[in-house]
Order: sequence, then C-alpha cells, then structure tokens
Amino acid sequence: MINIVFVVGARPNFMKVAPMLKEIQKNYAWSINPILVHTGQHYDFNMSNIFFEQLGVSKSPVCFGIGSGTHAYQTGEVMRKFEEFLETTAPKIDLVVVVGDVNSSMAAALVAAKANIPVAHVEAGLRSFDREMPEEINRIVIDSVSTLFFITEHSADENLRFEGQTEYVYRVGNVMIDTLVDKLPAARALDAYKTYGLDKGEYILLTMHRPSNVDDKEKLTSILKTVDEISQEHKVLFLAHPRTQKQMKGFGIVAENVIIEDPLGYLETLSLMENAKLVLTDSGGMQEETSFLGIPCITLRENTERPITIYGGTNTLVPNSDDLYEKVVSILSLSEPREVNLPLWDGKTSERIMKIIYGWIKHA
Ligand code: UD1
Repeated sequence: MINIVFVVGARPNFMKVAPMLKEIQKNYAWSINPILVHTGQHYDFNMSNIFFEQLGVSKSPVCFGIGSGTHAYQTGEVMRKFEEFLETTAPKIDLVVVVGDVNSSMAAALVAAKANIPVAHVEAGLRSFDREMPEEINRIVIDSVSTLFFITEHSADENLRFEGQTEYVYRVGNVMIDTLVDKLPAARALDAYKTYGLDKGEYILLTMHRPSNVDDKEKLTSILKTVDEISQEHKVLFLAHPRTQKQMKGFGIVAENVIIEDPLGYLETLSLMENAKLVLTDSGGMQEETSFLGIPCITLRENTERPITIYGGTNTLVPNSDDLYEKVVSILSLSEPREVNLPLWDGKTSERIMKIIYGWIKHA
C-alpha cells in the first residue's frame, strides 16, 4: 500500500485537496492509503468544518489544532507537530502533498523534506515577485524543497525553470477548478443572493483579507470609503474575513451602505460569485474562479502570481484605491464579457495528478 499524506490548514486548501481524495477513493482505493492532516490554522466553523461537510470529504483528518498566531508561531507549531506525527504515529510515508502557499503548507513541506520524504507541491511555481507578501516566501520555500511540481499555468513553468527546477514539472491544470465543476450544480440550486435581498447579476461581491490591504488603517479606510461610494449605485455584499472584521472594528471604520456578512461556506460563496456582476477581491483563488466562470474580477493588489487570469481570464489589477471607482464604472460599462482561455482547467486535474503520482511512486 502506498501511504500519502495530504496537508490542509487554511480555507483555500480544502477545495484543492478534496478532489484528489475523491480520485483516490474512485480509482486507487486498493493501492493508495491517503492520510489527511489538518493543522488547524483556520478553525472557525465557516473557515474550516463547513468545507469538509460541503465538499464531501469523508476522510477524518488528524488534527493539530495550532490556531492563530504570528508567522513564526504558526510555522513552528506546524513543524513541531508534523515532525512528531511523522516520527510516532504515521506509517512509512511515500509522499507528502502540500497545496498552495499558506504557512501550514510551507511548514509541512520543510519537515517532510528534512525527514527525506518526497514532497509534491500542487499549485507550484506561481510567483508575484513581491516578497512583502508572506505567501511569496512560502511559495519559494516550498518549491525549493519539493520533488514533484504540479502547475496550473505556463508562467509557473518559466518561474521554476528560472530557479533551476526543470525535472518533474507537470502542467496539469487547476485542481480547485475540479471542485468548482463538481459543485456548481449544488451551488446553482442555492441562489444565495436571495438571502441578502439581492437580484441576480445586479450586485458586486467583495472579499478582502490580505495584510497589505487590511492591516494598514489608511489603506483600508480608503478602499472601504470608495466601496461605500460605489454601493450607493451598485449594491455591494462584503463577505468579511475575521481578520478584516477585527481591523475594521479596531480602526473604527464603517461602510454604511455595504452589506457586511461573515465568510460563508464554499457553495454559498460560489453561488454568490456566479451571480454577481463583478467581484472585487484580493484572494488568489477568486481570481481563478471568476475567470473560469467568466465573471469580471477586480483584484485589489499591485501584482498577481496568477497572470493567466489577466491574459486568459477576466481579472484586472487595481493597485490604487483612488482608481477603483473609475475602474468599476468602466468594467461594468463593457457590453461583451472577456474571452476566456484557460488550458486544462477542465475538472480533470486531480485525475492527471494522481496518475502521475502513482506512476512516479511505482517507478521510484
Ligand atoms: C491565510 C493565508 C492566506 C490565505 C488566507 C485565506 C498565510 C500566510 N496566509 O491568511 O494566504 O489567502 O489564509 O483565508 O498562511 N482568524 C479567525 N478564525 C479563523 C482563522 C483566522 O478568527 O478560523 C483570524 C485570527 O484573528 C487570525 C487572523 O484571522 O489571527 C489571520 O488568520 P491567519 O491564518 O494567520 O491568516 P489569514 O489572513 O487567514
């Protein structure tokens, strides 16, 4: 039996790991034993458990319960607990799979590499070239200790090549889109916009949680002031991350015209995204999901590690909140949606990944 550990910790990890577990259950149940580890970086019901329920992850995770803290705290705790787990509890592990760029993924990759266990990085090679972003450091570290690289877009291949990683790089598509394709019918049945008194295609959906946007009082005030102005003409629903809510409260910021709600589950968020006329966000995943859905997206950042969403999707970067109002108006005035070209984002990425992993382990 092949033993593979899959590590999750934060909200965006769950929908990336779920389809790989499903694929194992479907086609590799007799040959691969998947072990799911949840670090507990995210722990609120709507940031964690709801995803297990909605995505149908039946596998019970091994939970570390590390919770919130500084980068060093989170990284250190995951490393300590993951090392102990590998040494004392786990069977002989053939591969550790980490996804994306959160602290939990980086910490687990480091531990596995030092224990001489090969690491597969799903969503490898993405680079924003902005080291002020904690995730950029995580991406570089994970890729520097990984053996297998599963990439979503051409830029990742170039970035890895530039860093000297040319072996075992596989362009397989986007595993998060597998979940989207699988769950779209269930999300469509929800019509979640009705819960907030909104009309189909007649509202803007906002999410924001990056430290660069929400930890700076002036920046957060300026963005939300503009959003509040926009919401006098176009209804805005803001699904506010706990970090953002905490900062708004601390800075005393209010946005009176904006509908502000706690984060929602995967299905509700997908339903709201698909029926929005525009999405404003600083999330990495939503740049990709809106591109796939053909919904215009404005990303409130100076850069993106996912350039395909700009040249092949519906994404526009707006780094400066002074330009936001004008950009929203100009995007909403376009009569034709942008043409989307996202090779291999077809719902079959986890099939490709597991086939490659299985073949690689068998021949290793
Ligand atoms: C993390 C990831 C980021 C990802 C995001 C998705 C890193 C460095 N960052 O950022 O890449 O886009 O998750 O959401 O790994 N909190 C709660 N309940 C929770 C989780 C967090 O209240 O369940 C609050 C806590 O106050 C915490 C803060 O949010 O301190 C930040 O959480 P943390 O996991 O450190 O970073 P995120 O901003 O969520």
